[in-house]
Amino acid sequence: MVPAGGVNNLPVPLTTFVGRQREVAEICARLERTRLVTLTGAGGVGKSRLTLEVATRTAAHRRDGVRFVELAGLTEPQLVANAVAAVLDVPEHPERALPDILAEQLREADLLLFLDGCEHLLKPMAQLVHMWLTASRGLRILTTSRERLGIRGEILWPVTGLAAPPEHVEGIEVEGFEAVRAFLERAAAVDPGFRLTASTATAVGARTGPPSAAGTAERQYGWSSPPR
Ligand SMILES: Nc1ncnc2c1ncn2[C@@H]1O[C@H](COP(=O)(O)OP(=O)(O)OP(=O)(O)O)[C@@H](O)[C@H]1O
Ligand SMILES: [Mg+2]
Repeated sequence: MVPAGGVNNLPVPLTTFVGRQREVAEICARLERTRLVTLTGAGGVGKSRLTLEVATRTAAHRRDGVRFVELAGLTEPQLVANAVAAVLDVPEHPERALPDILAEQLREADLLLFLDGCEHLLKPMAQLVHMWLTASRGLRILTTSRERLGIRGEILWPVTGLAAPPEHVEGIEVEGFEAVRAFLERAAAVDPGFRLTASTATAVGARTGPPSAAGTAERQYGWSSPPR
């Protein structure tokens, strides 16, 4: 059995979660009715951050809590089971395949697994997720992936960028857009005196305009120098 008692190893974000309140509520509701939800979308669009928000809110609904497994850095498919076993504290056995041991250990669990970054391991992930879900009634899985796993019962949730201003907007009304609010949160972190003014608003709007999102802007500008 996996350790019971609502254990939660979710990473605690260092920045404020901006917007997407309706999406969070709808994904939480879907998770009550289905057992596998995959958040898909381009790199940096906000899949992991949104999933973390959902996982944090729903953790209390599962008797055995929620566990987070980071898969993005794994290159070998056979290491997926090791990563999950390490997080669930399930020991290996010299004579048995680890995925089978996990299926057995998960059988009675009432748990949410958050498997983050599956796109480079789609086929092995699909096999493992299918195996574990069919072994356990109480298991729910949230995954993020640039592409779907493609297994029966999977509900897809396409993630698009935060709402951004149209390309040529001017003036401080850009502050109403979520992508701009995310930008401003980060700008304030590196420069507490930064304010949206008529002169900075156009630059901020351009940096958050479609199709970019918080992540794209973050990678592009590094948050070291908000526009002056
Ligand atoms: N709603 C949000 N509020 C605040 N920050 C956000 C939001 N969405 C995304 N971010 C930030 O943008 C960055 C990229 O987001 P995230 O890592 O979730 O993207 P991703 O779609 O999972 O990317 P990848 O496909 O590369 O894994 C992160 O630093 C994240 O914290
Ligand atoms: Mg991610």
